[in-house]
Amino acid sequence: MTVPHRAPSERLASSRRQPLLVFAGQSNCPLAQAICANLGVPLGKSKTEKFTNDNIIVHYEESLREGDVFVVQTFSTPVSDAIMELLLLIDAAKSASAGRVTAVIPYFSYARSDKKDSPRISIAGRLVADLLQEAGADRVLTMTLHSPQVHGFFKVPVDHLSADRVLSAHFKSCVPNAHDGVVLAPDAGSIKRASQIARRLNSGLAMIDKERLSDTEVRPRALIGDVEGKTVFIVDDEISTAGSLVETVSIARSLGARDVYVAVTHGVYTGPAIERIAALDVTQVASTNTVYVSPEKIAASNGKLAVLDVAPLFADAITNIHVGQSVSTLFE
Ligand code: R5P
Repeated sequence: MTVPHRAPSERLASSRRQPLLVFAGQSNCPLAQAICANLGVPLGKSKTEKFTNDNIIVHYEESLREGDVFVVQTFSTPVSDAIMELLLLIDAAKSASAGRVTAVIPYFSYARSDKKDSPRISIAGRLVADLLQEAGADRVLTMTLHSPQVHGFFKVPVDHLSADRVLSAHFKSCVPNAHDGVVLAPDAGSIKRASQIARRLNSGLAMIDKERLSDTEVRPRALIGDVEGKTVFIVDDEISTAGSLVETVSIARSLGARDVYVAVTHGVYTGPAIERIAALDVTQVASTNTVYVSPEKIAASNGKLAVLDVAPLFADAITNIHVGQSVSTLFE
């Protein structure tokens, strides 16, 4: 039986549960506002300040007692401040007698640190998960972790959203005959995501076998599949310096790709990324708003950058968590 989709605000109005309260740290207020607009609830009032000694203080300006509290904070620059602010917001919410606190982390950047791949390093993804739980997070809601197994660093329930539906719909709106194209995975780690998007587009699939030489340098070895004369859709979890993207586009072009579209979940765009994208031989580079992309970056990208909205997806997930319904149904 198909259950008709009802807007989050309509479903919340008929819920008799503890009040739904949404607050935000400072890392991505536009996304938090957009989530609240979709939920039909106001963004809760809180204040964050920094003392002259660089210590952060957070302060809720309304009661949280027995509330179902969602705190939205993405881990973008300055990442350490974003994490610290979220820890303080969770701790303060618990001390203020919140009924339940969910950390909504659209971009969990430390997911990239998920293994001990050189001696004497910290698996920081696990450490940050421990800190969130120690601060009092009862649940976590996030999107496109660098590797899905990072989920396992948490003992509290984690709802792990995917942007696949949004990225596929975007490709279809840009290229009506997307089914004639090829989805290209830039590395083995992204093949599963690429394959899911190819299924949604009913298109072909290809993969690059690459080697990472350092944080900023990657070397492609081979392209498995066929891109000659095709529209190529490159998908990835994130773009940071755009080093991987430059190499992926260059190999696709050298093998005869006709035109290239890129869509990723997290547009982090650090260091030389915008300059590289502005000079890149692609039609468009899209990312979702899990990380705030400033108008200055968009202007400097030579008309290449586009931003896709995932606030409706987060609002649906928050509603389902609040009313106790399945979150996985959102992907059907
Ligand atoms: C790598 O495994 C990831 O999936 C991304 O390709 C990578 O994080 C992007 O980083 P950058 O843009 O710095 O090459």
